[in-house]
Amino acid sequence: DQYRLNIILSQTFVFCYLWAVGGNLTENCWDSFDTFVRQQFEDNTDAKLPTTGDLWNVYMDFDSKRLDLWERIIPSFKYNSETPFFEMLVPTTDIVRYGYLMEKLLAVSHSVLFTGTTGVGKSVVTRGLLNNIQEEACYLPVYINFSAQTSSARTQEIIESKLEKKRKNIIGAPGNKKVIIFVDDLNMPKLDRYGSQPPIELLRQYQDFGGFYDRERLFWKEIQDVTIAAACAPPGGGRNPVTPRFIRHFSMFCLPTPSEHSLKQIFQAILTGFLAEFPSAVKQMATNIVEAAIEIYHRMSTDLLPTPAKSHYVFNLRDLSKCFQGKYFAVHLDPEYFVAKPIIFGDFMKIGVDKADRVYEDLADIEKIRSVLQDYLDDYNMTNSKEMRLVFFQNAIEHISRIARIIRQERGNALLVGVGGTGKQSLTRLASHICGYKCFQIELSRGYNYASFHEDLRKLYKMAGVEDKDMVFLFTDTQIVVEEFLEDINNILNSGEVPNLFEKDELEQVLAATRPKAKEAGVPEGNRDEV
Ligand SMILES: Nc1ncnc2c1ncn2[C@@H]1O[C@H](COP(=O)(O)OP(=O)(O)O)[C@@H](O)[C@H]1O
Ligand SMILES: [Mg+2]
Repeated sequence: DQYRLNIILSQTFVFCYLWAVGGNLTENCWDSFDTFVRQQFEDNTDAKLPTTGDLWNVYMDFDSKRLDLWERIIPSFKYNSETPFFEMLVPTTDIVRYGYLMEKLLAVSHSVLFTGTTGVGKSVVTRGLLNNIQEEACYLPVYINFSAQTSSARTQEIIESKLEKKRKNIIGAPGNKKVIIFVDDLNMPKLDRYGSQPPIELLRQYQDFGGFYDRERLFWKEIQDVTIAAACAPPGGGRNPVTPRFIRHFSMFCLPTPSEHSLKQIFQAILTGFLAEFPSAVKQMATNIVEAAIEIYHRMSTDLLPTPAKSHYVFNLRDLSKCFQGKYFAVHLDPEYFVAKPIIFGDFMKIGVDKADRVYEDLADIEKIRSVLQDYLDDYNMTNSKEMRLVFFQNAIEHISRIARIIRQERGNALLVGVGGTGKQSLTRLASHICGYKCFQIELSRGYNYASFHEDLRKLYKMAGVEDKDMVFLFTDTQIVVEEFLEDINNILNSGEVPNLFEKDELEQVLAATRPKAKEAGVPEGNRDEV
């Protein structure tokens, strides 16, 4: 049917035109671009564009052979209490829309770059998509996080460690897979003295010429079956403009800030899921809690602006998300409650109780907290050679309860900011002890260098991974001997992996040692990555 075919082709073309040309526009230009596109295709009688709603909201559905709303294909969210919080992804229009575009482009080995301000969901969209389709599409996703210190040699090492040798001068994706390298925070690397960013130049060399040079023997290595995807926020605040010579290889999409509607949708879904088992009086609170949290978040991000003295006052979706990660609610209807005395919550009042049986509760009796903390401290001093003496004044107690709350959360990482002598380290040590975590610190000695730091990290990883101990890694600003330390810490925080930390033999030993536990956890033995 020629007539139908013309319509389908025209509509598909308009869809492609909209995203290919306008995908990089910020939200405030969407309306005008919508109008512009309609004008462009005005005299094309086959296009038959929908007259209501805008073009950004539709995609080409090849089953029903017409333009249909994205909203119709948003999968419903199934709450599963077993899923770790940070992996809970509530499908929204943006997740579906940008996931779809990325999937189609990667399928034809075309690179994709997501941009948009911090916390709009660039990383979660990509990771969510790659996790979803990796098996079906035979992808092997490799996640790399760039930072100011990332070097090109290091980047090459990480990429090559995931590839396998095919022939003398050809390396490529293992097996029949395709490697998708997702470079997050692409524009972080600092400029060298010529104004270029070496790690990006390395990636550009791959995009342009399809390979790298071998750094030792200086021959050209061709790389097969590797596609690069990337994400970065706009330049500013440590992020640099990226050269157009690199960007031109990418399809670029600018993700909009989540609308109030999306925010509500996301957190309402998670909270309602969590509260499903609760009595209906509690369930009904969900809407109010979500709305209040979102309102406070908006107020904070407009009223509490960063100043030189408070440079850490930057708020985004992540902070809001953390409010819901805790999900411990206590309802006190009396407004007096919030102003009369400090609000302290914790699960540590009963000493020696198993982690699973701890009760998270409102701690009202400050004297009682003080005496419990003293008991913990005595216990700490009995088992540790370095004695700590702490006075539990009001602020210290509040800090300890907060640090303990962060530590007991999954991926609970804390950056403690304050002048020297406020007890950032000792309170953390005690809080770790309270939570049943072992606190690990490096000790600077003469000649402590990058190699010593790696040695310490290996110790830390073995304690956490092989011995299966709960660990806190406490690191202070005075311990930054070389900036590369921060690079590794950045990697720990982002992907959990410090590239090339273990030599081959040692890695085998570590694998052998973790295998029994992995087996217990149901990880197939052959799957080295999972182990
Ligand atoms: N659809 C969603 N469902 C659940 N959480 C989300 C969703 N979108 C964003 N988030 C939350 O927002 C946070 C920020 O997203 P992220 O991808 O890290 O932002 P970006 O990479 O753009 O800076 C994430 O940690 C996640 O908790
Ligand atoms: Mg990100």
